[in-house]
Amino acid sequence: MRTDRTFTMLKPDSVEKGHIGAILEKITASGFRIVAMKLTQMTKADAEEFYAIHNERPFFGELVEYMTRGPIVAAILEKENAVEDFRTLIGATNPADAAEGTIRKLYAASIGENAVHGSDSDENAAIEGAFHFSGREMF
Ligand code: RTP
Ligand code: MG
Repeated sequence: MRTDRTFTMLKPDSVEKGHIGAILEKITASGFRIVAMKLTQMTKADAEEFYAIHNERPFFGELVEYMTRGPIVAAILEKENAVEDFRTLIGATNPADAAEGTIRKLYAASIGENAVHGSDSDENAAIEGAFHFSGREMF
């Protein structure tokens, strides 16, 4: 049986601040295998589709603006219990509430600019991975 997978983005603030290497080191040191990865930039339409679940929320406009303002690192990660373990590794949405040592505690500036994305279910991990990668880009 295939090992569990999750999908992540190192958001524009992480790329701008030069945190790509440090965050990837933390991810791989935590036992995740990189299945797919690229530097890419989302269009407004991409971000509106990716975060469509939040389109009624008051922060939606800011979220789309933030996620499209520069390149991101998109990646698919593999590990047993990947979705849940990755959410633990990144920490709470608001870095003020994130546990010590988590990626958001270390690298996120605020609830709006919070360094990384992590899928919230196996189903969404598959949808989000397929949004960014074709089958031949997954290893
Ligand atoms: P993500 O989907 O990016 O992994 O984040 P999450 O599950 O921890 O949080 P979610 O509720 O899905 O929110 C998605 C992203 O929207 C931005 N946000 N801003 N200003 C605000 O109150 C606010 N709340 C959420 C964050 O970038 C959050 O990660
Ligand atoms: Mg979410």
